[in-house]
Amino acid sequence: MLVSAKEMLSKARDGKYAVGQFNINNLEWTKSILLTAQEMNSPVILGVSEGAGKYMTGFKTVASMVSAMIDDLGITVPVALHLDHGTYEGCYKCIEAGFSSIMFDGSHYPIDENVEKTKELVKICAEKGLSLEAEVGSIGGEEDGVVGMGECADPNECKAIADLGVDMLAAGIGNIHGKYPANWPGLSFETLAAVKEKTGDMPLVLHGGTGIPEDMIKKAISLGVAKINVNTECQLAFAAATRKYIEAGKDLEGKGFDPRKLLAPGAEAIKETVREKITLFGSADKA
Ligand code: 13P
Repeated sequence: MLVSAKEMLSKARDGKYAVGQFNINNLEWTKSILLTAQEMNSPVILGVSEGAGKYMTGFKTVASMVSAMIDDLGITVPVALHLDHGTYEGCYKCIEAGFSSIMFDGSHYPIDENVEKTKELVKICAEKGLSLEAEVGSIGGEEDGVVGMGECADPNECKAIADLGVDMLAAGIGNIHGKYPANWPGLSFETLAAVKEKTGDMPLVLHGGTGIPEDMIKKAISLGVAKINVNTECQLAFAAATRKYIEAGKDLEGKGFDPRKLLAPGAEAIKETVREKITLFGSADKA
């Protein structure tokens, strides 16, 4: 059964570890992440972007697939199915489709509008038992080939949004989605500490988990980060393993073209990436 991320995140905050959010793109991805979380006895959050939701034919398909997979695979660790960077409309679609957690990314709205829309979603999520993530300060990333540096959130704006009753808050602290450029100055721990100071017990979320050095991850967790999102790293691992299989000509040997064989190295590579992250984030044996 899917659960809200609320309880797993308050436990992570208190226990000084972080729960990984791993984004899913298809059945193989989902299966690899669920099996690894179970193997490591770790809670897990499956992230679904609006684009990935569309790719998988719609949020209803995703929610049905994940729920059925939890049953069929006998997964007993807590699993939250979470909309990643949801639009206002996307949030409503996922609530309807049976997700157990949503992120409303109102960071591009003026703060007053972000507050109004977040308030409305806080009410609905509380009624329906979903957890809600809000974002303040946009997370950088590649757009049209240009990598934007991550913006740092205003700690007072973080407090204004946290006080609305969201369950977790993503504050921009110089983090970036995708690969980090060579001249990246690193995470702003001053911003993180100031946000923590203003938001008290609120579990904080670190986006752009791919490529952040391990010592920075550990420091961020010690300063209140309880959820870390990883997407690109699983994609890179999947692509590299698939390329290796094809370059070795394995798809041409015997039944190597069978999709179950062709996709197996990528699925194993995702498992390995998730194992490494669960170990680094400290959520193993915390289910
Ligand atoms: P990466 O793709 O950089 O791992 O970021 C993932 C993320 O933050 C999803 O919201």
